[in-house]
Amino acid sequence: MKYFIHFYTINTLWILFGWANPTQLDLDSYKRVIKMSLLFYKAQRSGHLPDTTGVPWRGDSALNDQGQNGEDLSGGYYDASDYVKFSFTMAFTTTMLSWGVISFEEGYRAAGQYENVLDAVKWATDYFIKCHVSKNEFYGQVGNFDIDLGYWGRPEDMNMSRPAYKIDEERPGSDLAGEAAAAFASSSIIFKDVNQTYSKELLRHAIELFDFADNYKGLYQEAIPGAKNFYENGGYGDELTWSAIWLHKATGEKKYLKKAISFYETFRLKERPNEFYYNKKVAAFIGGSYQEQRVSQRGRCVLQIFHDRTN
Ligand SMILES: *[C@@H]1O[C@H](CO)[C@@H](O)[C@H](O)[C@H]1NC(C)=O
Ligand SMILES: *[C@@H]1O[C@H](CO)[C@@H](O)[C@H](O)[C@H]1NC(C)=O
Repeated sequence: MKYFIHFYTINTLWILFGWANPTQLDLDSYKRVIKMSLLFYKAQRSGHLPDTTGVPWRGDSALNDQGQNGEDLSGGYYDASDYVKFSFTMAFTTTMLSWGVISFEEGYRAAGQYENVLDAVKWATDYFIKCHVSKNEFYGQVGNFDIDLGYWGRPEDMNMSRPAYKIDEERPGSDLAGEAAAAFASSSIIFKDVNQTYSKELLRHAIELFDFADNYKGLYQEAIPGAKNFYENGGYGDELTWSAIWLHKATGEKKYLKKAISFYETFRLKERPNEFYYNKKVAAFIGGSYQEQRVSQRGRCVLQIFHDRTN
């Protein structure tokens, strides 16, 4: 059972959101799917829950999650049926949810789920703000999978130790910092008209984390070896490119587009991607279209397509 449920992690569910064509099927089913999908996120919440979760069997849990210097790391989402909080995949999920809102805001509104999806994103970004304890320091994992796997109860009752793991200047992770920067940048866009203050705060974290990712290169799983067994990442070139594109989109500043193009070329990302997930983001840059990739031989054109498409 545990493994069966594990398949439905918070990292895969966003697939339900944008890629279907609602004209073919009855709209009520789509509304229901989106509503239930967002309910899944609610059920995965960690930390102090408001009364409005709509998931009656859930309550406060892991309120004592802490960083290595006692920083409050409560909140965020549990990974799956396990209770580890993995920032890398959580950040990718957050970027995808935000992208969905940017591209399909009207759809979310029509389904009566616009407030709910903003809420789902904010549950993650509030947590990431806590994880970003200083400019070049970001918590990438809370909980240890080996300890966690030995526990089969509810998160509300757990009392095992939940160590926290981070990246910093000594042991950097450009993939994790880059993905977190992308999550912050994309979410700052969706909060721009909702709460300027919050949006600006998100953007500040995005800019700092992007600089951290760019100035201190490394793979996060070398700093956080436990993550490797579950969410190994093959390289950070795509996260650097991805975060630069999102920062360009959030700020409008040309320097980020130049960065994105330079990463795209430096890390030779011109492969033809056949999959898109937290570990491989190149497909997003080329709009998933082989034809477009052929037409635009240079990274510049390819990245511009991404930019135009999401504008
Ligand atoms: C943790 O909870 C279990 C089951 O409720 C209990 O048997 C155990 O003594 C608790 N451990 C600690 C350290 O509180
Ligand atoms: C906007 O965001 C700020 C920063 O998180 C928060 O303090 C404030 O309460 C928010 N305002 C509204 C109206 O939600």
